[in-house]
Amino acid sequence: MEAKKIFITGATGNIGKSLIKYLLEQEGTDQIIAGVRNVERARGQFPTHERLTFRAFDFEDQTTFNALKEVDRVFLLRPPHLADVDRYFKPLIDAFQQNQINQVAFLSVQGVEKSKVIPHHKIEKLIVESGLEYIFVRPSYFMQNLTTTLYEELKTHGTITLPAGNAVFNWVDIENIGEASAILLSNFEQYKNRPFEITGGENLSFSEVVSMINQEIDTQLKYRSVNPFKFFLLKKQQGTAVPFIMVMIMLHFLPRFQSAPKCSDAYTLLSKKLPTTIREFAKREQQLLRP
Ligand SMILES: NC(=O)c1ccc[n+]([C@@H]2O[C@H](COP(=O)([O-])OP(=O)(O)OC[C@H]3O[C@@H](n4cnc5c(N)ncnc54)[C@H](OP(=O)(O)O)[C@@H]3O)[C@@H](O)[C@H]2O)c1
Repeated sequence: MEAKKIFITGATGNIGKSLIKYLLEQEGTDQIIAGVRNVERARGQFPTHERLTFRAFDFEDQTTFNALKEVDRVFLLRPPHLADVDRYFKPLIDAFQQNQINQVAFLSVQGVEKSKVIPHHKIEKLIVESGLEYIFVRPSYFMQNLTTTLYEELKTHGTITLPAGNAVFNWVDIENIGEASAILLSNFEQYKNRPFEITGGENLSFSEVVSMINQEIDTQLKYRSVNPFKFFLLKKQQGTAVPFIMVMIMLHFLPRFQSAPKCSDAYTLLSKKLPTTIREFAKREQQLLRP
């Protein structure tokens, strides 16, 4: 198979780091190009590898789109703060075409087809309408939200406060998403023009997750559900930006009125492994999860 140049956006983030690790672990000759805002800082975050190079790339600065020169395939991730699809993603997809890039794998989200308002929906539509060959990676709720977005309160107070009630979420390990994405990117021809829901095997509420973690690593974490108004005020007092609070409410309150997410077997079919369970995640990340 001919070696490809694969350009990775969001390379220094949760998914990007895991994806690059799995791409480099695979035997093969594909060149991995990490498109990053700060090349020097990014270099320090990865082991040196002959197949990994770095180029300056900023979604918010079109002069950096020359980083796409001589690229064959792109892994596209939407950084969480970029919601204006016409402003940031339309010109980028035009730049793919100007650079004869015809293949894009996009990190989307499970359920995207049902929610016309989220940016991922618009980005998927843009990709399809532009005639690019695509793979849509649609993951469920990241287990690592516990050790990133929700981490400060968990670490400091041993609590998680959300407007999620008893809503169930499908919990997926970022490692499983990185691994599945690496397989999909390296075998693009085989999997192209299809969506892949990458999920874990468990639909669980926050109270169930917290009690499993407590049993597994002997902690006393607590989950407190509050109504969305109280959540808004609490977060506002803590200085959280309003758009971010609104996203948190949308992500955690709306599932109370939706049917339980689907468990997909795509990860297992691709990797021939079972997805990580919450108990395995708790054990692996116990250093972080102990307040
Ligand atoms: N959390 C969930 O449960 C969940 C579930 C499904 C889907 N998702 C989706 O997953 C995506 C987030 O993935 P993630 O957690 O891996 O992201 P992340 O950890 O927040 O990382 C964001 C990445 O984007 C880069 N970035 C930010 N602004 C940039 C810019 N202007 N130009 C170039 N690069 C920029 C960051 O680089 P720097 O190092 O320069 O900051 C970083 O590498 C979102 O689209 C989200 O909707 C999340």
